[in-house]
Amino acid sequence: MITLKNIHKTFGKKPYEVHAIRGADLNIEKGEAVAIFGPSGSGKTTLLEIIGVLSKITIGEYFIGNENVSLMKDSKKAYLRNSRFGFVFQTFNLIPDMTVYHNVEVPLQYSKDIKGKKKDLIKAAIESVSLSHKCWQVANKLSGGEKQRASIARAIVLEPDIILADEPTGNLDSENGKIVIDLLMDFWKRGKTLILITHNESLAKKFPRILKIFDGKITYDGPPENFI
Ligand SMILES: Nc1ncnc2c1ncn2[C@@H]1O[C@H](COP(=O)(O)OP(=O)(O)O)[C@@H](O)[C@H]1O
Ligand SMILES: [Mg+2]
Repeated sequence: MITLKNIHKTFGKKPYEVHAIRGADLNIEKGEAVAIFGPSGSGKTTLLEIIGVLSKITIGEYFIGNENVSLMKDSKKAYLRNSRFGFVFQTFNLIPDMTVYHNVEVPLQYSKDIKGKKKDLIKAAIESVSLSHKCWQVANKLSGGEKQRASIARAIVLEPDIILADEPTGNLDSENGKIVIDLLMDFWKRGKTLILITHNESLAKKFPRILKIFDGKITYDGPPENFI
């Protein structure tokens, strides 16, 4: 479903350029759960942003299905990003003075064909992360765990088939981290694709497939059993 062919990503201009990704080849099929693991600065976020069509590739090719993402117009990319992907971030990225309901509504503002169903979709997404009782609470009054659950509701409200999560438990205690991981794993168990960045090796090893990134390269791609 996702195919990256010899991807390179460079930031900045000579002589100050940073080679964040240096030749990555990757295939991810529908329904996989993949942990991206590696030290800080190794290129994990850059790789996830490329997959999520948030960041342009410097060299290489990116296909989703049979479609060549690198050749798409920006409007097509925006449509693809909004319809196929849900994003979850370490720092939640909620709008602090808006309610849970209105935060979850944000991705729907760009969607034309769901007008009549809007309220139901939002309520169902909030219900699925057990936050119905906080529906009208503003985001900055939520606990960290509740913020991340609200952001998962926002990520799934349009029923994407892929969730991209960048260290989603990085700012949470272990109890709330477990709740968040369980919600993301539930999404995967419904047949969807989950790609998650983590610093936490024991969390990475709960995934059937681990990608290790080091210095802009994929240095391991396989099951947790062989991972060292
Ligand atoms: N927008 C940017 N401009 C310049 N350099 C960047 C930018 N984003 C990331 N980098 C650099 O690219 C490298 C990889 O960063 P990143 O993908 O964020 O790593 P990780 O998520 O593994 O910590 C780092 O050296 C980082 O400083
Ligand atoms: Mg990062």
